[in-house]
Amino acid sequence: MSTNVNRRRTAIRRTAVSRPVALALSDGLLIPGRTFFDYGCGRGDDVQHLAALGFAANGWDPAHRPDGKRRPADIVNFGYVANVIEDPAERVDALKSAWALARVVLIVTARLE
Ligand SMILES: C[S@@+](CC[C@H](N)C(=O)[O-])C[C@H]1O[C@@H](n2cnc3c(N)ncnc32)[C@H](O)[C@@H]1O
Repeated sequence: MSTNVNRRRTAIRRTAVSRPVALALSDGLLIPGRTFFDYGCGRGDDVQHLAALGFAANGWDPAHRPDGKRRPADIVNFGYVANVIEDPAERVDALKSAWALARVVLIVTARLE
């Protein structure tokens, strides 16, 4: 229980898109017409910023957006989620679930420090 409380608290507010999403935009992976799904979206700020830019963007998070529907998308973001899941088997399950939703690209980033 305390572990999940700590995971929940890792989600920060973002005043701009996260670095992985910014790179997806600048590298031409996330282009107009492509859909976006944020797997482990935290407080949902990447989803909101992308929606404001005109993208069809959705997200799910077990702590912050548990009612969000996990749905396929062209670009799926698994941003800074792997590093908050302590259990290796659960981490693999989550990664596979995110992969299964990705039609074109799965973005995976982790904080190592
Ligand atoms: C460091 S936050 C990153 C949030 C968001 N991706 C961002 O970059 O702002 C990690 C998030 O992973 C979520 N999380 C924890 N376990 C998860 C799981 N098994 N599957 C998906 N997300 C999970 C937490 O609830 C938390 O919101």
